[in-house]
Amino acid sequence: MVQGAAALALLLAAADLGASLTPAAARLAGVKARGSGRRRPRLSANLTNAETSRRGRAAVADEARFRAVESDGPAPDVLGCLDFECTCENSWDYVHEIIEVPVVLVDAASGDVLDAFHAYVKPTENATLSAFCTDLTGIAQATVDAAKTLPEVLADLDAWLREKGLVGDGADATFALATDGWDLAHFLDNECARKGLAKPGAYLDSWVDVSQAFALRRRAKDRANGRKKGRSSRRVNLPSMLRHHRLPLEGRLHSGIDDATNLARVVGALRENHPDWPLRTNDALPRLKEANDAWLSEL
Ligand SMILES: *[C@@H]1O[C@H](CO)[C@@H](O)[C@H](O)[C@H]1NC(C)=O
Repeated sequence: MVQGAAALALLLAAADLGASLTPAAARLAGVKARGSGRRRPRLSANLTNAETSRRGRAAVADEARFRAVESDGPAPDVLGCLDFECTCENSWDYVHEIIEVPVVLVDAASGDVLDAFHAYVKPTENATLSAFCTDLTGIAQATVDAAKTLPEVLADLDAWLREKGLVGDGADATFALATDGWDLAHFLDNECARKGLAKPGAYLDSWVDVSQAFALRRRAKDRANGRKKGRSSRRVNLPSMLRHHRLPLEGRLHSGIDDATNLARVVGALRENHPDWPLRTNDALPRLKEANDAWLSEL
């Protein structure tokens, strides 16, 4: 429990990169600096207090404590729920290439779905989909054969987000991508590094980890209800988050666009159940977190 709290505090300590990196480091990391030198509150202290809070404390106060843990990252106006599908075999050490890019836009205040971007991607390192991959994702070989490559699709996504005023210089709303875990690090960042691809924007480097946000809210609720054994150790994934909110799984699991749409429904449910607790950017690439920690340790 305490170990989980420490790990969480570490993750969350990286959430407000713009405010905590030096301007130079921020530029290097591709994050816009928002003033410098503001020391963030000690998140680990918040969580430790929450952990020791006794049963019977007012539920409102308890939720406020958990909420405080997340309070340092930006709370975007619009979330882009994302779920990549990738080439795969039934093994862990496969070199994945992204083959589907769905982004479902959700109004962060109302939870309403606004629009969606959807593209398939042609893999270039190995153009042949395995039978395992086609069975898992429902994506046919002919579909990816006819698709654009990753840099082209990322440019299309970027142009689409710019047109909507969500990213770039003319942005008139704050925006962040939201995933159920490691899509932007494990899949996109690794593939871009391997292929020497430049990402079109820093919005692909930090994100709202919906699983983490969900787990924190579930834990706050358990604490408020005086539940003796928290559900914090239970596996959090898309099906379990839908189940928790009594939402049926719509479409096909591991179809990128269906998973992204279902993730958007989870975001809607989190907003509905916790209207005063907005979703915030709570995770970033490990290298950004390291740069942030290094700078903090020099203070
Ligand atoms: C490409 O991927 C397919 C499906 O996983 C596999 O059968 C094939 O051996 C791979 N080709 C190469 C050159 O690695």
